[in-house]
Amino acid sequence: MKYDFTSIIDRQGKDSIAVDVIPFDNAQVADGFTKIPMWVADMNYATVPTIQDAIIERAKHPAFGYFDPREEYYGKIIEWQNKRNGVEGLTKEAIGYENGVLGCVSSAAQAFSAPGEAVLLHSPTYIGFTHALESIGRKIILSDLVRDEEGVWRMDYEDMDRKLKENHIHFAVFCSPHNPCGRVWSREEIEKAMDVYARNNCVVVSDEIWSDLTLAGHKHIPTQSISADAKNRTIAVYAPSKTFNLAGLIGSYHIIYNPYLRDRVRKQAELSHYNSMNVLSMHALIGAYQPEGYQWVDELRQVLTENVEYAYQYILTHFSGVALAKPEGTYMLYLDCEKFCREHQLSMDELIRAGIRVGVIWQDGRPFHRPYAIRLNLALPHSLVVEAMERLNEYVFHK
Ligand SMILES: Cc1ncc(COP(=O)(O)O)c(C=O)c1O
Repeated sequence: MKYDFTSIIDRQGKDSIAVDVIPFDNAQVADGFTKIPMWVADMNYATVPTIQDAIIERAKHPAFGYFDPREEYYGKIIEWQNKRNGVEGLTKEAIGYENGVLGCVSSAAQAFSAPGEAVLLHSPTYIGFTHALESIGRKIILSDLVRDEEGVWRMDYEDMDRKLKENHIHFAVFCSPHNPCGRVWSREEIEKAMDVYARNNCVVVSDEIWSDLTLAGHKHIPTQSISADAKNRTIAVYAPSKTFNLAGLIGSYHIIYNPYLRDRVRKQAELSHYNSMNVLSMHALIGAYQPEGYQWVDELRQVLTENVEYAYQYILTHFSGVALAKPEGTYMLYLDCEKFCREHQLSMDELIRAGIRVGVIWQDGRPFHRPYAIRLNLALPHSLVVEAMERLNEYVFHK
């Protein structure tokens, strides 16, 4: 490998909630245990050096006045979408800056639904969607994903259709790949979902922030590539932030082909006067979407695939009473600890605290809508994933 995914970087004092925050009330790491950050969705790897180079190069110039995104910004996105996702014919007009994917979800929801109106999401649900939509007064209707006989998370199209009709819904959020379930939806699955949305006259936000992080053997299919109709009814959102660990720099973007949807989303975003690009974040994107960035992501996907494979097998063979599906994308595991908790008469609060006590800073998965879930981030040097599994085995799931 050309890039370093094995060194343990010390993020203490470097502006990182992953290590500064323990995301659970009254949970503490016991003396003698180091913290292994496995919760918030950022990564514990040094990003590709071309990003730092681009930021430093721009920072050497001493003026940071008002600016318009340069052509190169759009050019790099068009090239990235073409090479990674096979997107043809994307033009600058369809691309728009967003401070965050969630900002775009919020703008789109405000443009295409009214306060108090219902919107459709899948469950489990990324908690950011819940916060973004509830805070603007939307009523969230959930269609459950269900695990099939092979344990694979599937959409229930009939349930989606019924709920859209019953609740008069015309706005849906589709997460592809899915966080926290890790599904990389197949073309056929996306076709079926888009067909349901089309039959019910839904505007769809397709959150594809995880699209670059597919694991070996899985390919991301952009929702807008499914059909002319899908292209026309979908607001797609992407970001280098998840892919290259740039969340602290801020900067995502939408692709909206339909001028009617585009104008309405953009107008909504403009109203606050807050959806503005930072010049260093623009240069970060340009630095990321360089040939080195392509190689870095391919190596990252290999590292994540190995971590997922290792942790998945380890959990299946060591943690009796814990169920999970094998992710196809993202770096998250979504553990179902129901059987373990019942067999050991342990509450979820106790289980979560037990992991954190030995330094495994994992995340309560219940707010994602499963009552016995824990979400576990595997974007760490492999040695730390091994260490975390061994600590969980010895101190938490040993019973
Ligand atoms: C599915 C999904 N969408 C959006 C976000 C956040 O994106 P942003 O920081 O661009 O708002 C995350 C972060 O974890 C995510 O998992």
